[in-house]
Amino acid sequence: MPVVFEKCAEDGTSFFLLNTPNSSYIITVLKNGIVSHSGWGRRIEKWSGNAAIWKTDRGVNLPPDLDPRNLSLDTLPQEYGAPGKSDFRPSSIDVAFKDGSRALDLRYFSHNLIEGKPQIKGLPATYALESGEVQTLALTLKDTVFDVYVTLFYAVWAERDVICRWAEVENKTQDKIKLEKVMSACIDFGCSDFRMFQLSGSWGRERKAYIRELVPGTQSIESRRGSSSHHQNPFVALLAKDASEDSGEVFGFNFVYSGNFEARVDVDFVEAARFSMGINSYNFGWNLEAGASFAAPEVVMVYSKDGLGQMSRTFHDLYRERLCRGEWQLKPRPIVINNWEATYFDFDEKKLCALADAAKEAGVEMFVLDDGWFGNRFDDRRALGDWVVNTQKLKGGLPYIVSEMKKRGLGFGLWVEPEMVSPESELFKAHPDWCIHIPGREMYLARTQLMLDLSRQDVVDYLFETLSDIFASAEISYIKWDFNRYMTDVFSEKLDAEHQQEMPHRYVLGLYSLLERLTAKFPHILFESCASGGGRFDPGILYYMPQIWTSDNTDALSRITIQAGTAVVYPPSAMSCHVSAVPNHQTGRITPLAQRAFTAMAGTYGYELDMTKLAKDEIAQIAEYSALYKKIRSVVQFGDCYRLVSPWEKSGRIEKYAAWMNVSKDKSHAVVTVSWIYAEAYAPKIVLKLKGLDENADYKDLKSGNVYSAKELMYFGLILANMWGGNASEQILLVRV
Ligand code: GLA
Repeated sequence: MPVVFEKCAEDGTSFFLLNTPNSSYIITVLKNGIVSHSGWGRRIEKWSGNAAIWKTDRGVNLPPDLDPRNLSLDTLPQEYGAPGKSDFRPSSIDVAFKDGSRALDLRYFSHNLIEGKPQIKGLPATYALESGEVQTLALTLKDTVFDVYVTLFYAVWAERDVICRWAEVENKTQDKIKLEKVMSACIDFGCSDFRMFQLSGSWGRERKAYIRELVPGTQSIESRRGSSSHHQNPFVALLAKDASEDSGEVFGFNFVYSGNFEARVDVDFVEAARFSMGINSYNFGWNLEAGASFAAPEVVMVYSKDGLGQMSRTFHDLYRERLCRGEWQLKPRPIVINNWEATYFDFDEKKLCALADAAKEAGVEMFVLDDGWFGNRFDDRRALGDWVVNTQKLKGGLPYIVSEMKKRGLGFGLWVEPEMVSPESELFKAHPDWCIHIPGREMYLARTQLMLDLSRQDVVDYLFETLSDIFASAEISYIKWDFNRYMTDVFSEKLDAEHQQEMPHRYVLGLYSLLERLTAKFPHILFESCASGGGRFDPGILYYMPQIWTSDNTDALSRITIQAGTAVVYPPSAMSCHVSAVPNHQTGRITPLAQRAFTAMAGTYGYELDMTKLAKDEIAQIAEYSALYKKIRSVVQFGDCYRLVSPWEKSGRIEKYAAWMNVSKDKSHAVVTVSWIYAEAYAPKIVLKLKGLDENADYKDLKSGNVYSAKELMYFGLILANMWGGNASEQILLVRV
């Protein structure tokens, strides 16, 4: 069983040993009920319970006995940091009681071992399907004075190196209490010999990898934007000093939440690191009535003893198999043409049909109609909220255009941005109070639009009805769900002053409930999330929508970095990647078609360009790429990923190119892709050692017909031809013989 509980009779402590295939996580309950963290690392079968390292006196008097002369929790590693009682590190929870006091003294109250993984009410989370797959420890702590209970959940996966943590606070006092901060997970590592890995950026350059040393003080990432954001992804990994792509210990943390978050590593005065992750306490407050409880979202914690690469593969498998849901979860994703960069707002049904003709010839399977099909939406300044087809632009409406696509053998997808409203719209006229705003203050617009207040049930119900009508109005098999601004002027007309700080979290809960209802009602629809590209690329969203538009930046070279960063956590099946026109619309750069195609083939593949302007031979070339992708897509979308050369490995030689591999789960097929970043004359020779192949097998290169042993490919490698002119990208397909 993954969870072992033992009492150590001699000194009155007891401990929990949580075991995954390669890791152990140890919680010690001290004699006085303080719940201490005793380590997380490579799997051990037995724990002495001695925990000698944690009892070492570091200059302050330490528990377990809490010598009454000098009580201090300041350096004791804890499972959940309580405020106001001598642990001066950032707390995991802040509560204001009726008397105005804010101290909490949390001690062990009870524990419960649950077979399987309980749901977290109203929140997305990973799930267990089979018996024995997960065992969950629910460890309840209670304040020594007030009847406030904090239950820490640890869902331990038997066959994956994953522990999922979340927390629930229950108020059993007679009075309301105010939660000012509730972290989902806290880990006191006891040392700070790590580097912190994060994925940061902006619109158009999302999820670039950054690595930094830990130093005393705080290193943190966060979002205060109402959504998880382009700027910081809710992901952190702590890399042991010697960890690399394929070796060393890595601890990965990902927050299953789409709103404001914070993740921080605080290194204290004895150079020990406390990691915390949860809802951002900025603009957060929750009134917990007597008898009520509050659930903080899940943190997925992945352990890898084999470097960052193995951590990524563990995340990928978990997310594909036990986070994503629905009919499309494990189905090969169609090749899409999206008309956005092809037409922007300037289209009618004839233009769309012409584009569909070209796309069909190019091997496309799904036509996605982007922004501009509804209301008075001739540009991005108006009409969001008016979800009625504009029959001036689209004669015959959606049924007609869908039937035209069907005639061509194409599925049909539609863009919507339901969480928004334009001030110039019928919806805004009818319900000016539905947008997020503070009465009496100027409303700040972004992209000339406002956010709807999804913390309100009436708004959520309205959206459910309106969207249901559209989704049912024609044979729509794909929805691109966009979200193009951040939350400002945080306020809801439905909440009183005391409850205003609940609004950002209530918004996220409202969004989740809407998505839950819609995805249940339209199970055949493939939902793709988008937020000005990758502004809401998080596991909370993946629970409802199994793929996400990775970035509005479709430039092949930019995409190498963006996609490599994204794939550190998220599986290729989740990453939408399209081939677009040159010069690229975001960077003005010209890259060869092969490079655009091979780069886009790292995820779910599609196109985003005006194919009607392409010459016959270009369409034929694109058709070949589509055919190739159809051949490899199950390997790419559902196989294992290996980074051969990462864009963040900073060394003069390496930055010239990136290389990655996708290997089918049974290791029978592999796709190797190399993408060059710049050309050099008389360049140093590059040897590319492959990974993840079946060591005892031979593989045939499908292009040359050459057969190699896997060992030769992995231990000696391939010598790469250097980039020359337009030869900027290569793909090698290998089949086991
Ligand atoms: C956002 C999306 C784009 C496109 C436009 C339409 O920017 O990221 O892909 O859908 O909106 O307005």
